[in-house]
Amino acid sequence: MTRDVPGQLDNLDPRLAYFYHPIATSDEVGAQPRRFSLLGENWVLFRDRADEIVAFVDRCPHRGAPLSMGSVAGGTLECAYHGWRFDERGKLLCVPALGEGAKLPAKANLVQAAALQERYGVIFLAPKLPRAELLEIPEASDETFASGMLSPVMARQHAGYLADNFLDMAHFPYLHKASFGDGTSTKVDPYEVSLDEFGLRASYRHSFLNREDPAVAKGERPLQQHREMLYRYRVPFSLLLRLSFVEAKGTNVIGFFISPSDAMQSRLFTVLWRNDLEGSAQRMTEALEFEAKVLAEDLWLQNSYRSDGFPLDAKREVHTKADRITLAMRRKLSEALQAVR
Ligand code: FES
Ligand SMILES: [Fe+2]
Repeated sequence: MTRDVPGQLDNLDPRLAYFYHPIATSDEVGAQPRRFSLLGENWVLFRDRADEIVAFVDRCPHRGAPLSMGSVAGGTLECAYHGWRFDERGKLLCVPALGEGAKLPAKANLVQAAALQERYGVIFLAPKLPRAELLEIPEASDETFASGMLSPVMARQHAGYLADNFLDMAHFPYLHKASFGDGTSTKVDPYEVSLDEFGLRASYRHSFLNREDPAVAKGERPLQQHREMLYRYRVPFSLLLRLSFVEAKGTNVIGFFISPSDAMQSRLFTVLWRNDLEGSAQRMTEALEFEAKVLAEDLWLQNSYRSDGFPLDAKREVHTKADRITLAMRRKLSEALQAVR
């Protein structure tokens, strides 16, 4: 159960149904039905005969059995309980207990997702007609970039706080001191945030410790280096971080796609695009391991919160000018939700 606290967004806010959310990786969905949770509701996903993703609310209209316990064969989904069969669009085809040619009950069709998109190796689902497009990531179709994905992780945290965390700059020297945080660079210099219709962007340059750079180990470059960071956020819970390495050259784009799974948990999908790994699969593996380590530092803290939701009302927290980006993110999210009628 969630508590409705004024000015706080919880993961189950019904207005969130009008946006795309990541729900599964492409690899997790095959020809047989599988259950995934989004906004506190279970969905059954599988691929139809044309290899397109199909998604229904995971509840049989007969007695409510999870359709994900059933099976798909020859383009029909069969419920495990009494064998009702549905076509790939969710239309009821057969009730075995009534026999061949029987009149089928009306209103027994399945509830389909309003919109689905498969992008970046992730499946995005909007339960209701989405009000915003997905975040565009040009590097995803740029052949000079190699991509990799971390295994999705569950976090005991509201999706808003996770998005906030990945947009935040002031925590690097503290929470990430074991990975890349530069303890000599704690001040966040002034930066600009520009708003667009459904999100924002901000750029920022800072010093960091480049433990990933092979030239550091060889003594050819210093450990303390600089990177230009570009943040782009899209409502409700997607963002990217483009890190351009000043000394080491090359670019690392990290996409964070956060799924409000249920009242207390979110599922995080992280995708990397890099153009500095010289086509080496080994270096991509190492880059993913490094990112997983950084993420574990974030989640160590995020998993320990206890909150009634994500504060959209600016008066509920204390903000400074270093928090301009995360304050703007609250504003864009709040506006987008208020526009849902
Ligand atoms: S509950 Fe699905 S067929 Fe009866
Ligand atoms: Fe972090």
